[in-house]
Formats: sequence, C-alpha cells, structure tokens
Amino acid sequence: MVRLTVSRALVGLLLLLSPTVEASQDHAVCDHIKTQLNNGTVQPTSDVYEALSTENWSQTVWAKPSCIIQPSNAEELSYVVSTVADWKVNFAIRSGGHSVVPGAANINRGVLIDLVHFNSVEYDAEKKVVTVGSGLRWKEVYTALDQYNVTVAGGRVLDVGVGGLTLGGGLSYLTDLYGLVCDNVVNYEIVTSTGAIVNANAESNPDLFWALKGGLNNFGVVTKFTLKTYDIHAAWGGVRVYSLDALPALFEAMYQYQSVDNKDPYANIMLQAFPTNATIGAILNIVYLKPEEEPEAFAPFRNITPLADLTKLQTLTELMLAAPVPELTRVNWFSSSFTTDKELFDKVGDIVTKAPELDSLKNLTAGSLAFGWQPISSSAVLAGQASGGNALGLKPVNQTWLVLDVGWWSPEDDSLAHDYTQSMINKIDDASKASGNYIDYIFMNDAAADQPVIEHYGKENVAKLKETAEKYDPSQVFQTLASGGFKLPKS
Ligand SMILES: Cc1cc2nc3c(=O)[nH]c(=O)nc-3n(C[C@H](O)[C@H](O)[C@H](O)COP(=O)(O)OP(=O)(O)OC[C@H]3O[C@@H](n4cnc5c(N)ncnc54)[C@H](O)[C@@H]3O)c2cc1C
Ligand SMILES: *[C@@H]1O[C@H](CO)[C@@H](O)[C@H](O)[C@H]1NC(C)=O
Ligand SMILES: *[C@@H]1O[C@H](CO)[C@@H](O)[C@H](O)[C@H]1NC(C)=O
Ligand SMILES: *[C@@H]1O[C@H](CO)[C@@H](O)[C@H](O)[C@H]1NC(C)=O
Ligand SMILES: *[C@@H]1O[C@H](CO)[C@@H](O)[C@H](O)[C@H]1NC(C)=O
Ligand SMILES: *[C@@H]1O[C@H](CO)[C@@H](O)[C@H](O)[C@H]1NC(C)=O
Ligand SMILES: *[C@@H]1O[C@H](CO)[C@@H](O)[C@H](O)[C@H]1NC(C)=O
Repeated sequence: MVRLTVSRALVGLLLLLSPTVEASQDHAVCDHIKTQLNNGTVQPTSDVYEALSTENWSQTVWAKPSCIIQPSNAEELSYVVSTVADWKVNFAIRSGGHSVVPGAANINRGVLIDLVHFNSVEYDAEKKVVTVGSGLRWKEVYTALDQYNVTVAGGRVLDVGVGGLTLGGGLSYLTDLYGLVCDNVVNYEIVTSTGAIVNANAESNPDLFWALKGGLNNFGVVTKFTLKTYDIHAAWGGVRVYSLDALPALFEAMYQYQSVDNKDPYANIMLQAFPTNATIGAILNIVYLKPEEEPEAFAPFRNITPLADLTKLQTLTELMLAAPVPELTRVNWFSSSFTTDKELFDKVGDIVTKAPELDSLKNLTAGSLAFGWQPISSSAVLAGQASGGNALGLKPVNQTWLVLDVGWWSPEDDSLAHDYTQSMINKIDDASKASGNYIDYIFMNDAAADQPVIEHYGKENVAKLKETAEKYDPSQVFQTLASGGFKLPKS
C-alpha cells in the first residue's frame, strides 16, 4: 500500500529544501514514486517501456516519457497525481491511447500515467447500470455485458479506449436513441489535483458532473464511469462495400435517409470511403438495433448494388467486431458539422472525392484519405438534454459530423499531410457557411490538435467550465502540467 501521509510530508520537505523544481526533477519524481508503489513504475530501462511508449494508434503520438506509471487503484493514483502536482512535473494521462493528438496521451520527458489497471466491469442488473474502468477497451466492456444480453452506449470500434472516448463526448450506435456516450454516464469517479477521490453525479458535485460531459482531461483523472445499460443484444447489419463510382448515389441515398419525416432511431449508418484508393472503395456500416432484416429506414440504399454485402442477423458485438479498421502508420483527422441539405451534400461530396488536395496526398509515401459521414439526429441531442445536459453546446437539429482521416508513412510528410487535409476541411466549412448549413460544433473525438474544440462549446459553457476548473483544480494543474489534449481556452 501507499504510505500517503509520510510521502506527502516528504515531498513537502524536499520542496522546501530545493525551491527551484525544474524539469530535471522528472527522473527524481519517477524514482520517488517507485519507492511508494508496490509495482507499476515502468522506467526506460524496462523491457516493456518500448512497447508502452510506442503504443499505437498513430506513430505521430509516440513519445519518450521519463517513466510510465501504472497505478493499481484510486488510492495509488491519488498519490501519483498529488505528487506530480507538488513536484510540478509535466504529465499525460492515457486510457486506450487512440488519440491522434500529440502530447494528449503520451509525453516526452515527464510522467505518463497509464490507466491500464483500471479494468474492472461491475454490472448491477437491478439498477441497470455498469461501472467500467477507464483503461478498458470497448471490446472488453461489450463482451462482459453480452452474457446478460445488455449493452451500453459506447464506441463503435472495439479496440478504442473507454476513457478518452467517453470524456470527448463519444459517438455510439445507440446515440440517436439515448444520446452521446457522455450523456449515459450517471457517475464519474475522479481523482482531482489535490489527490481527492471524488464522485460526480446529478446529486454530488453536479457542476463537475456536467463539466465532465465533454471536458476531457481538464478536471482530473477519471478512474471509472457508471453507465446506463440497455436491453439491446441481437441486431441486424454489417458492412456493404461499393466501388467509388457509387458515391454520388450513396450521397443521394444519405440525403434521403437523413431527411425522412420520422427517422427510426434504431437505425444507424456510417459511410466511409477511401477516395485515394479505389481498391477499398466505399464502405457502408449498417446497424439496426433490433433483430429485423432490411428495415424500412435503409430503403434509400436498396437500389445501389454493392460489390459485397455482409449484412446479417448477429449480435451487436459481433457486428462491431467485424468492422474493418485500416492499419496506418501516421494518422491525423479533422472534423466538420453541418445540417442536412441536398445541394450542400453534393458540394461536400465533390470536395471529398475531387479536391486537388487528394492528388497531393496520394503523392506522399503511403498517403491516403478516408472520410466518415456520420448522421446525427436531433433526437440524440434531446436525449442528452433529458439526462441533464452536457457541456458540448449542441443544438437539437438533424446534422452530419464529417471526419476526414489522413494516413501517411514518413515523419517528413507530417506537415504536408496536415496542411492538405486542413485545406479540405476549410473548403467544407466554407461550403456549409455559404449555404447556411454550418454548425458551430467540432466533434472532439474526430478533431485535429489545432481545431478549437472547446471554444466552440459556446461562451456560456466555456465560462462555466472555467469556473468549475478553478473550483476543483485551484492550482490549475490540469491546465499547466497536463497540457496535452483539448484544453480550456486561455483568454
Ligand atoms: C479506430 C478508431 C475508431 C474510433 N471510433 C470512435 C467512435 O466510434 N466514437 C467516438 O466517439 N470516437 C471514436 N474514435 C475516436 C476516439 O474516441 C478518440 O481517439 C479517443 O481519444 C480515444 O480514447 P482512448 O481512451 O483510446 O484515448 P487516449 O489516447 O488514451 O486518450 C484521449 C484523451 O483523453 C484523455 N483521457 C483518457 N483517459 C482519461 C481519464 N481517465 N481521465 C482524464 N483524461 C483522460 C487523455 O489525456 C487524452 O487527452 C475512434 C478512434 C479510432 C482510432
Ligand atoms: C501490479 O499491480 C496490478 C494491479 O493490481 C496487478 O495486476 C499486477 O499483477 C501487479 N504486478 C506485479 C508484478 O505485482
Ligand atoms: C439472453 O438471450 C438468449 C436468447 O434470447 C436467452 O436464451 C438467454 O437466456 C438470455 N440470457 C439472459 C441472462 O437473459
Ligand atoms: C429531425 O428529423 C426528424 C425525422 O428524422 C424529424 O422528426 C425532426 O423534426 C427533425 N428535427 C428537426 C429539429 O428538424
Ligand atoms: C489500397 O488499399 C489496398 C488494400 O488495403 C492496399 O493493398 C493498397 O496498397 C492500397 N493502394 C494505395 C495506392 O494506397
Ligand atoms: C499496433 O499494434 C498492433 C498490435 O500490437 C501491431 O500489430 C500493429 O503493427 C501496430 N500498428 C502500428 C501502426 O504501430
Ligand atoms: C507529386 O510529386 C511530384 C514529385 O515530387 C511533383 O512534381 C508533383 O507536383 C506532385 N503532385 C502533386 C499533385 O502534388
């Protein structure tokens, strides 16, 4: 166990003896923490260090921390957070490591706090909730719940981490029905900068509860989330693969699907296409949250002949397991949101398939671009409001969250890959602004490091977030020492 009181006193003493605490303290703090934890301090000499510091998703976020700390429980985490805060050492927090934002979940020098041991799943059938550790991957959550025939609003790709996805809002196949993933959290257990272990829910610390719904790593380190569960298990769907030639027809079908009078909230679609690679073409992910084949909601797509059709009756978990995920070395992505309009859809369709930037991207070594077209119904936003509201500043309108994913191979091409893709997203924003369909919201989980995500939550929400950060983190540890990821605006 951690000798909390002794160590806190010791830290205070060390600080008194050496008032100028510099970055070179990193190694000292690592050694110090190591003496206090039973296990869980990975130093550069360790044989697992390399694998942990280069954990994918993207090589652009590989880094060399002074040490990687893997606390076993909330008490150890509390000790680690208060120690790095006292020693003024920079740190980063990692759950699944799928962020593409450099410095968000990994760090050069400084301490990487890896939440891998926060991996418990506790299902409460009576209350219809499940408490899940932040360090889990969604696959582990769904698999554990499958035996009870229930599920949660969670990630759509099973390798992604619980922590980052949920704290960024979280888009799920259950979103049109029950809101974003964050809207389905009923309690957060969080360690704040003073080392306090706090519960945030509708009754206790409701300001923090609200702020964590979209507030990422600005308030503390979340250890576990209690999520509502739903009786959803058997489903219908899967992927349909099309050639790139089918895209105009797919955009037309998308428009019809998104503009019907009463969209079935059990129906979900995500259109992905790879305009730089005709071999992969376009992939339509179709998910119906009931075991019913070919429901009416998908009728607009019926007349477009796929090259392959893998839709079938299966469990939701099986369906998500089968979704293809490309292997890329270096990755970035950009997000844009707009309302439903036929002319705009055609315009955006043109940009994502014909913009000259695509040729420039293809010219990079292993350069590729994919786009993801994600319809969000007004029902999703209303469901979020009904469960107390979140910090995202969403309007209850039918909308599309578009993501551009760029992949490439060489570090030398980092800035070109960024610039070409940013140029495309700017064109899309310009088009939706020109037609009056622009939505002032940037989905954090699909956003590039330099997209001003939290700024777009709206003035009032930003002010509330800052007040909350000052209340729970008076010394602003999570604004200064944990400076990676999407932070609260400075001014
Ligand atoms: C293949 C793939 C599929 C995806 N699919 C979806 C999807 O279906 N829906 C969706 O919404 N998003 C999706 N995303 C985006 C994903 O949500 C983000 O990349 C998210 O950041 C990943 O979470 P993580 O825990 O793996 O990330 P990490 O990289 O570990 O963390 C991301 C950010 O969250 C912070 N953070 C993590 N855990 C904590 C914690 N416990 N306390 C405080 N801060 C914390 C980190 O500091 C970092 O800033 C996908 C990404 C990929 C690569
Ligand atoms: C370290 O602690 C974790 C979490 O309690 C445990 O899973 C792991 O086995 C421990 N490792 C060692 C070497 O004791
Ligand atoms: C889950 O559903 C299956 C199929 O309908 C059923 O046989 C099984 O008893 C259910 N299990 C539980 C725990 O409800
Ligand atoms: C969104 O679309 C649904 C039908 O899919 C419609 O019932 C609803 O009124 C639309 N919402 C708004 C705000 O226009
Ligand atoms: C296109 O994708 C296929 C399948 O993933 C891959 O083998 C091929 O190398 C890619 N081509 C280009 C030009 O990137
Ligand atoms: C990601 O990790 C997997 C499993 O360890 C590995 O096979 C794969 O090559 C890695 N991908 C990248 C881009 O590093
Ligand atoms: C592709 O690269 C070549 C050689 O570097 C260059 O001459 C050409 O202009 C590039 N094309 C595009 C579209 O960027």
